[in-house]
Amino acid sequence: PKRVRTRHFQTAKQQGIPITGLTSYDMLTAQIFDQAGIDFLLVGDSAGNNVFGYESTLPVTVDELIPLTRAVAMAAKRALVVADMPFGSYEGGKEEALHTAVRFMKESHSHAVKLEGGVRSRKQIKRIVSAGIPVMGHIGFTPQSEHGLGGHMIQGRGSSGAEKLIEDALAVQDAGAFAVVLEMVPGSVAAEVTKRLEIPTIGVGAGPDVDGQLMVWSDFAGMTEGRVPRFVKQYANLHSVLTDAVNHFRDDVATGAYPAPEHNYE
Ligand code: KIV
Ligand code: NA
Repeated sequence: PKRVRTRHFQTAKQQGIPITGLTSYDMLTAQIFDQAGIDFLLVGDSAGNNVFGYESTLPVTVDELIPLTRAVAMAAKRALVVADMPFGSYEGGKEEALHTAVRFMKESHSHAVKLEGGVRSRKQIKRIVSAGIPVMGHIGFTPQSEHGLGGHMIQGRGSSGAEKLIEDALAVQDAGAFAVVLEMVPGSVAAEVTKRLEIPTIGVGAGPDVDGQLMVWSDFAGMTEGRVPRFVKQYANLHSVLTDAVNHFRDDVATGAYPAPEHNYE
């Protein structure tokens, strides 16, 4: 299959073809999502929660994300693979940001990087793009600044919130990003941003009027127990599928039903 490139994101927006993205942190899921024709795979710092078991994305390091990103990049034959730059790997300035982006491109074989922040990350985005590395922006609710924002909260509410979101979106675009993620913002504001921008907007809880949709794979596949955010649609219930399977295996071993004769080497 022909590799998805950043210019395909641009033509998709122009032609009104919705872009699809999922997170992935390993070869097995990357292969499935890639073969299904998902346009981009984000190796998110949400691996902090979903792979490493941290309570937030803040502790995740570049060294932890690189091997996961490499596994996804090696499995994806068509999808564009985006490496998520973790907290503490780019805020210090444009040279720090470039250094991190180069590490991901060299060591993980990703095709682009993503970093959080609009106006505050403009210099970093510009520097990375000038080195020939595509950047995906990320504005609205930015989990790495959870504590500064005061919790998991919808961003872009009210006229000043909407204005700030538009400012951030324009800053990301002016800095040279090829797309921007809008996380947890009112649908009407996301629609306005999408109209104002030439680059595609990718929604995560941003309503239908954006250029693409992204979900965290463990959310969309129902891999985790408990509450999921309002914007998540669970397309499967892998948690109960795997729970049933493991209960069945445990019982079969206890009763001697597994292994059966057909599983034995003679
Ligand atoms: O890390 C992640 O999964 C993300 C998306 C939710 C945007 O950044
Ligand atoms: Na992230």
